[in-house]
Amino acid sequence: MQSCIDVLICLSSESHLIKFKAEGIWNYSTMLIRDDLGLLVLGAREAVYALDINEISVSKSKVLWEVTEEKQKECSSKGKHPDIDCRNYVRVLHQMSDGGMYVCGTNAFSPVCDYISYNDGKLKLEGKQEDGRGKCPFDPFQRSSSLMLDEDLYSGTSLNFLGSEPVILRTSPVTLRTVFKSSWLNEPNFIYMDMVPESDDSPEGDDDKIYMFFSESAIEYDFYNKLLVSRVARVCKGDMGGLRTLQRKWSSFLKARLDCSVPEPSLPYVIQDVFHVRHKTWRKSVFYAVFTSQSSSTDRSSAVCAYDMTDITEVFARGKFKTEVSVEMSDVKWVMYNGECINNAARSLGINRTLDLPDKTLQFIRDRPLMEDAVRPITGKPLLLNRGPLLTRLVVDTVTAQDGQDYPVMFVGTGEFSHKPLGQNGSNCHFEANGYVQKAVNYDGEMHIIEEIELFENAEPVDVLRLHQNQLYAGSASGVVQIPVSNCSRYSSCLDCVLARDPYCVWDVLAQQCLRLPQSPVDQKRDLIQSLKDGDANQCPSTGPETKLGILVLGNNIRLPCQPSSNLAQVNWYFAEKPLLYSNEKYTIYKDAILIYNATSSDAGRYTCMSVEHLKGKQFTQTLAIYDLQEQKAPEVMVTIKTTVGKSLDERFTTSSGVHEQEESPSFYKNQSGKSKLIAMQVSLAVLSVLMVCLLFWNFYMGHISPFMCCGRHLIKSTRNLPEMEYINTGNDVMDHKQQMISLYIKTKCDGEAATFHSRPANGDQALDNHVFKYITDESEI
Ligand SMILES: *[C@@H]1O[C@H](CO)[C@@H](O)[C@H](O)[C@H]1NC(C)=O
Ligand SMILES: *[C@@H]1O[C@H](CO)[C@@H](O)[C@H](O)[C@H]1NC(C)=O
Repeated sequence: MQSCIDVLICLSSESHLIKFKAEGIWNYSTMLIRDDLGLLVLGAREAVYALDINEISVSKSKVLWEVTEEKQKECSSKGKHPDIDCRNYVRVLHQMSDGGMYVCGTNAFSPVCDYISYNDGKLKLEGKQEDGRGKCPFDPFQRSSSLMLDEDLYSGTSLNFLGSEPVILRTSPVTLRTVFKSSWLNEPNFIYMDMVPESDDSPEGDDDKIYMFFSESAIEYDFYNKLLVSRVARVCKGDMGGLRTLQRKWSSFLKARLDCSVPEPSLPYVIQDVFHVRHKTWRKSVFYAVFTSQSSSTDRSSAVCAYDMTDITEVFARGKFKTEVSVEMSDVKWVMYNGECINNAARSLGINRTLDLPDKTLQFIRDRPLMEDAVRPITGKPLLLNRGPLLTRLVVDTVTAQDGQDYPVMFVGTGEFSHKPLGQNGSNCHFEANGYVQKAVNYDGEMHIIEEIELFENAEPVDVLRLHQNQLYAGSASGVVQIPVSNCSRYSSCLDCVLARDPYCVWDVLAQQCLRLPQSPVDQKRDLIQSLKDGDANQCPSTGPETKLGILVLGNNIRLPCQPSSNLAQVNWYFAEKPLLYSNEKYTIYKDAILIYNATSSDAGRYTCMSVEHLKGKQFTQTLAIYDLQEQKAPEVMVTIKTTVGKSLDERFTTSSGVHEQEESPSFYKNQSGKSKLIAMQVSLAVLSVLMVCLLFWNFYMGHISPFMCCGRHLIKSTRNLPEMEYINTGNDVMDHKQQMISLYIKTKCDGEAATFHSRPANGDQALDNHVFKYITDESEI
């Protein structure tokens, strides 16, 4: 067990990326998070995978879903590329209320849907082939969106082979669709849809609504060529269509322009992805959307805008419709309609269902789906504006920072701007794409990019981005990666930690580490530094004291000095980050030192001396000294592990060897000869353990011992730290391959570390020799 810990330490390098890719499988573009099953269900080209949500490199099951030869031939005979277009791309993946899943694929330009179950760790395709037209696109390069709600599938896609019949469809006992009119949908690109529970506590007896986001060619402007605009549309959940007019069509479809105006004059930006930040009270929900510039050849920029749910509902409720001049006005003179779902007011007039709506109202609705007003973003302008590689996917996490405020952190992924016109063989419209995620926050109107996280080595566009419990999941053409939303430990100093202005991270003065902000209310006693809005690193301890290492000799009295810089300062001592409040039989706390009596092994650990000063009602805390007392009996390697959490080996090394440079060192009261014997013993023990570790590494490398034999889950978990490594998952042999990778890694990476272990005892020895050890017989000398 012991050696496993050593291996773990060795593996914890900087990268936290976990990858999944399967041989021969491409286009991982559809994801469904099944929290209840602990799965990330992944839809790819001709395959669906069930991955462990915590460790996506672990594939629990897979099911292939290939096109038949016949379908492929039929598709290629219509002029489509047999190997690119005429395959089955999984595009729709939803959970059903019975726990099963609904899945649709393009199936060689002949979309088909089916049910998938997950039982006893196995995915199974039910084989109940259902018509997928209107639910899933024909063309794998076309965007679409869908939503499963109470067994009703809402989908926005194209209904025909040519992709020329766009539709927003509800597949339900009463199937509804949009009217084929360019005023309803005009060459749309469907992006996203979701339900907003507006019936919750509604005094008006309102209905839930489904909101859809898409871009389309504008019909409301006279423009010399095609102009794209972004839209938000909505329908009422209880819609049943009209009786004669709008029969089996939406009788509640309304849309509005979505504005995301950048400072300079330009064509409207085009929506690419949406993230719904849900709130308990739906009115406080916010939709974040990422946009890219329209003329991407001249101006390549992206913007993120956020829309308040209240602003969106207001635009639809205002009842101002854009009207075509040609419409005959006599029809509509007496129509009362202000764009609401069936609510109490309508019910009081005897209209209980949309089927009861008068023809005149339905005609009005049919002819005027577009609202006059546009939906404006919160603060009226983009939260983020980015030049360069186009940002096309986003998720937003809400982080409660140390100041108690909630900050939305945006993760925006770069991707290819693939608005491929139909019938064109898009190879010549290629844009560079970098395969990274930008992590950004907006502080008081000022955007701040915290970091850019590289996801895919070969600069692939991010096709899909998901967020689940502090993990990001990104899919691309060649694989999927999982990465934590923050990696605070990469900031090694207070300055780095505070200046990063990452709401997830705080500097812990006691532990001297950049830590992930605890989710629970922060312990007030702890001294944590975070300065998000100002990035004020002045709060950092001016020059953090170096940790002084000392050997704890059992049964001795130990004095640890600590001199406050000011007489006004009060000195506080902490042991293992817990305050030592009073002098007692174990400790005496002096103004400039602490005395520990009769040291026992339970006294080993970190002692921190802090000064606290009060000035103008403010409290200033400063770390004055840190001591690491290590029990003498323990082998050196163990000690290293224990005291170096969160630091790189190199750093630890300097820390320990730096002791002898300190003027004030801990003093130990014991005679010298006894001590050196013990050191000698310690050195030999350390050398022995290093040899053991090397032997173990050798065995790993030779495959005599499997790391899984001893560590099991732990070690598998730690593989997330292996950088730049791919897990080719081909079912049964996954373990073998991974194991090989680990052995290889241990060999290459740990050879260097082993050398460090070797030299360590020698250095420690030297350090100790330089200590001033006093043997005190008289207490008054202290
Ligand atoms: C599928 O992946 C390949 C790369 O292997 C890529 O060239 C192609 O564009 C992808 N297709 C779709 C529909 O995303
Ligand atoms: C020191 O600690 C040991 C073990 O805890 C105990 O047996 C011994 O009596 C203690 N000595 C003094 C002087 O407190």
